[in-house]
Amino acid sequence: MATLEINDLHVTVEAEGGAREILKGVDLTVKQGETHAIMGPNGSGKSTLAYSIAGHPKYTITGGTVTLDGEDVLEMTVDERARAGLFLAMQYPVEVPGVSVSNFLRTSATAMRGEAPKLRTWVKEVKGAMEQLHMDASFAERNVNEGFSGGEKKRHEILQLELLKPKVAILDETDSGLDVDALRVVSEGVNRVRESGEVGTLLITHYTRILRYIKPDFVHVFAQGRIAESGGAELADKLENEGYEAYVKGGVSA
Ligand SMILES: Nc1ncnc2c1ncn2[C@@H]1O[C@H](COP(=O)(O)OP(=O)(O)OP(=O)(O)O)[C@@H](O)[C@H]1O
Ligand SMILES: [Mg+2]
Repeated sequence: MATLEINDLHVTVEAEGGAREILKGVDLTVKQGETHAIMGPNGSGKSTLAYSIAGHPKYTITGGTVTLDGEDVLEMTVDERARAGLFLAMQYPVEVPGVSVSNFLRTSATAMRGEAPKLRTWVKEVKGAMEQLHMDASFAERNVNEGFSGGEKKRHEILQLELLKPKVAILDETDSGLDVDALRVVSEGVNRVRESGEVGTLLITHYTRILRYIKPDFVHVFAQGRIAESGGAELADKLENEGYEAYVKGGVSA
């Protein structure tokens, strides 16, 4: 069973006036089949955690470990991390001019599976996944994220998730900016992947509404660069009612 294990992770970014510590000792274990929700105030470091696991070069790991099935993730290149089974749906997906969705997906799937998927079954697979996400077939020929609306970008992230079948999926605010119908469609996509029981999901969100569709096994409060409290699904309701004030006493992290 695949396990992502984060231990005492410390991360800094280069800022004016020198390096600034954003993550201050994150501990988290995500096992295949589990769904973890991370909730926390703006600027607390949630996206930094996602990017650090994915290997974004802007973030410097100054302490701690990240392992996937015991393998040192921090030693891997970004490509190796993806091949090892880590997937990140970004809060702000980037445009990839000159690369069509169809080419992008096929190249990614080839890298993940170790061989090019057979064309005939692949075309069917993509078409089926796009239909389920209510994406028009014409998206396959458009350049990745170029001119996509916010909601279209998010659907495209879930399309990747469904086709690439990672071991651990990190979804950074995949629900933000979605209308009610899109939220349901996207959640159903995440649930299809979850139901395989083969993926561990880390869902970063601000809103409990997505948690009505995607039931988390664990909810974590992220505040000031670390996990401040962990609990079950009921913790999300408490946060919705009470906010984060109790977790950020003593002011904003600096
Ligand atoms: N590349 C960077 N350069 C400078 N500061 C950065 C950089 N990346 C992150 N930070 C700072 O680190 C802190 C945490 O940012 P992060 O994006 O991880 O927060 P977040 O919890 O995802 O917030 P939100 O809920 O608004 O998405 C913020 O104060 C942010 O300005
Ligand atoms: Mg963020």
